[in-house]
Amino acid sequence: MLLRASELVLEIAGERSSSDSAFFSRLNLDLSLLSKDNPSPKDYGYPTSLKSWGDNLRSELYLLVQIRWLVMPDIISHEFIQQNFPTLSQMTYLNNASTGIPPASCIDAMKQYLEDRINVRRSVEDIEKQLEELLELLAKLQGGKKEHYGLVPNTSSGINSFAHSIEYPEGSNIVLCDLEFPANYVPWQNVSRHYGPELRVVRSKDGAASLDSFKEQIDEDTRVVAISQVQFSSVYRMNIGALAEAVHSVGGFLVSDVIQSIGWAETDLEKENVDIAAGHAAKWLLGPIGAGYVYVNKEAIDTLTPRFLGWWGVSKMDDYSYFEREPLPNARKFEIGSPSLVGYAGMTESLKTMMEVPARSREQAAMENADYLRKRLSEEGLSCYDFGKKNNSPIVSCALKDAEEVNKSISKEKIYCSVRDGRLRVSPHFYNTAEEIDRLVDRLR
Ligand SMILES: Cc1ncc(COP(=O)(O)O)c(C=O)c1O
Repeated sequence: MLLRASELVLEIAGERSSSDSAFFSRLNLDLSLLSKDNPSPKDYGYPTSLKSWGDNLRSELYLLVQIRWLVMPDIISHEFIQQNFPTLSQMTYLNNASTGIPPASCIDAMKQYLEDRINVRRSVEDIEKQLEELLELLAKLQGGKKEHYGLVPNTSSGINSFAHSIEYPEGSNIVLCDLEFPANYVPWQNVSRHYGPELRVVRSKDGAASLDSFKEQIDEDTRVVAISQVQFSSVYRMNIGALAEAVHSVGGFLVSDVIQSIGWAETDLEKENVDIAAGHAAKWLLGPIGAGYVYVNKEAIDTLTPRFLGWWGVSKMDDYSYFEREPLPNARKFEIGSPSLVGYAGMTESLKTMMEVPARSREQAAMENADYLRKRLSEEGLSCYDFGKKNNSPIVSCALKDAEEVNKSISKEKIYCSVRDGRLRVSPHFYNTAEEIDRLVDRLR
C-alpha cells in the first residue's frame, strides 16, 4: 500500500491514541524492517541526514512514517490516477504483466497522429524529432544514452536481431533457464539449430533459477546468457548485474528481456552492465502494443554487425540514390524498416506521464502493493511464491485450485488477473491501491 501524504496526515492525526497494532496494520508498515538488527534509516533508502531516531520502537515508527511523508512525493494521488487513467476507477485492473493501461495522454497522442496524417500535417523532420525524443526518454528511464536505443516492433524481434548477429565459433554455447517466456528461448533454439551453439538450459527449482545454477553452466565457450530480468510466470527477479559479471568473465554477452521489469523497476541497464536488452511498451510502460525497443551498450554496438540490415538502419537515410550503405554507428542500426509511428507517438506520451512519478516511487508503490497482496493471501491460507526482498517482483503468483475457473469468474466482476502455469498471476502497478487488492482477496476467500 502506498502511503500518500494526505492519507498519512489523517492517519497520524487520527490514530496516535489507538493501539500500536491497529495503527501499524492500517498503515501496513513492515515491522520487520525496524528490527534491532536493521536500525538505520539509510537501510530504507531515506536520506541519512534524517536520522534522529527515537529511543523506542513506537517513536521510530512514527518517525519512519513522517520521513516517508517528507520524501515520497504526493504525485500518486487519487487525482493523478483518476485524471490520467480514468478507466481504472471502473474496474479492478491487476494484470499489468499482460498489458498495462495506457494513460489518456497516450490515446490523445495516437489520435492526434492519425488526425495529422489525414491532414498531411506532419513532416519527416517532425517525425524524426518525435523519435529522438522517445530515445531520450528511454535513456532517462533505463540508463545509457539515446545512442544506445533503437526501435523495433517487439521484444521478440529485438532478441532475434541479436541472436543472429552474434558469432558462434565451433564448440560455443548459450545459457538460459527453463522459466523463460517463449520470446526469449525460441530465438535461441532457432540459432542453435542454424549455427550450432549448444543450448544449455538451467533447471529451475520452485520458480527460481539461482545465480549459482547459471554459474555452473557458464564456461569459457559461453557466448550468451539470455535472461528475463523478471520471469513472466514464476515472477522471480534476477540480479542481472551479477549475472552480467559472470558472463563477462568469459567474454560472452548478457542479453536481457526486460519487458516484465522496466516501468515499475528502478533499473539502470548501463550500471548493471547489461550488453543487450529488449522490451516492449505494452506492459509496465503503459504503452501501445507493437512499440518495442532495444538497448545495446557501446561494446555491443561496436562489435556486432546486424545480420538483418534495412534502410532505417543505415546512414544517409534520406538519400535515395544507389550506393554502398553503411550501418549506423549506434543502436538504431538494428532498426530495419518503417516503425509504427502511431504506436511510438503513444508510447512517448505514456513514458512522459509515467515518469512524472519518480522511478523509486513507482517501484516502491508497486512492491508495496504486491507485499500487501502476499500478506493478505497468506492470511487466507493461500500460498504464493515468495523469493524474499531481493528476488520478489510486483507480480504475485498464487497457487489456487481451479485457477482458470476462478479467473474467468472474477473477470465477470471486472477484476482482471491472468493464469500462468495453473496459478493465478496478479500484477499490480504503482497506480493500484490496497482497496483493489482487498477486493480481489475478498473474492478469493
Ligand atoms: C518475459 C516476456 N517476454 C516477452 C513477451 C512478449 O514478447 P513480444 O514483445 O515479442 O510480443 C512477454 C509477454 O507477452 C513476456 O512476458
